[in-house]
Amino acid sequence: MERTAAHGAFARDFAGTAATVELPGFSGVCAEITFATTHYEDRLYRDLQVPFPRSLATARPQRRAEFLAGRYLAGQLLYRLGSMQRRIGIGSHGQPVWPIGFSGSITHTEDRAICAVAGASTMLGIDFEVFHPRHGCEELLAAIASKEEADLLASVFAGRAQGTITLFSAKESLFKALFPLVGDYFEFTDAALVDINPARGELRLEILRDLSPAVPRGKIFKLAFRHHAGGTLTWLAEENTGSPPANKSTGTWGPGVSDTRDS
Ligand SMILES: CC(C)(COP(=O)(O)OP(=O)(O)OC[C@H]1O[C@@H](n2cnc3c(N)ncnc32)[C@H](O)[C@@H]1OP(=O)(O)O)[C@@H](O)C(=O)NCCC(=O)NCCS
Repeated sequence: MERTAAHGAFARDFAGTAATVELPGFSGVCAEITFATTHYEDRLYRDLQVPFPRSLATARPQRRAEFLAGRYLAGQLLYRLGSMQRRIGIGSHGQPVWPIGFSGSITHTEDRAICAVAGASTMLGIDFEVFHPRHGCEELLAAIASKEEADLLASVFAGRAQGTITLFSAKESLFKALFPLVGDYFEFTDAALVDINPARGELRLEILRDLSPAVPRGKIFKLAFRHHAGGTLTWLAEENTGSPPANKSTGTWGPGVSDTRDS
């Protein structure tokens, strides 16, 4: 669709220019944009050439805005990597369904979207969390960590909050990266922190039960973390050496697409 000057200006009020986010050791591309929900309108979907999904028909503007920002950014990264297809479907569990040949992951807060995209052989999960001091972290920590994990965090982080948010984000990144291989939800208690090195910004999570043939109990995944834009950014980017069943309809692994329809 041709973009008029007015449309372009309006889109610029909504979203800034994509800025590269360096992820050491990552062979794909990662970038972020900030966006302003106060400047969101539904017509931006058309302007930015992102199909409006029916699943957002009753969603609030904040949700519509963050979804748009994430997909708009993801489309730019796919283009940068040479993809002819820039539209990303929505799977039956809410997961993004990437064009054949690509994998990726999206995270957003109320005003920032971050996306990483790589070739399909890369397992990829990225998560960004901003800690709000008004939210107590004791309850969250108890829900996502055992006493051993909490003790390990306490041994390396001076403050409870930083350790809690790092582990929470890391487990969300793990979930996103493994979802194509697992095909279902799994719990925060299905993976345990077994090692953390703040100086290197690395931690290891061990899988505590068989999640799928490709993700058996005892498997250990290395994730990275660092402070970023006033929050905590975590990611898992690893070459997938397993051979999960291919989903022929989508060209991706795991469950198929439930909602890729335009409005
Ligand atoms: C899906 C989930 C991980 C999203 O994390 P979040 O912090 O709430 O939100 P984020 O902004 O970081 O990420 C949202 C994006 O994740 C992606 N996502 C959603 N479901 C996903 C899935 N099943 N697999 C991979 N990515 C998924 C989507 O791109 C979504 O954005 P979009 O819908 O606008 O495209 C989280 O809501 C969830 O369900 N967690 C429970 C499962 C879990 O984490 N278990 C821990 C196991 S150790």
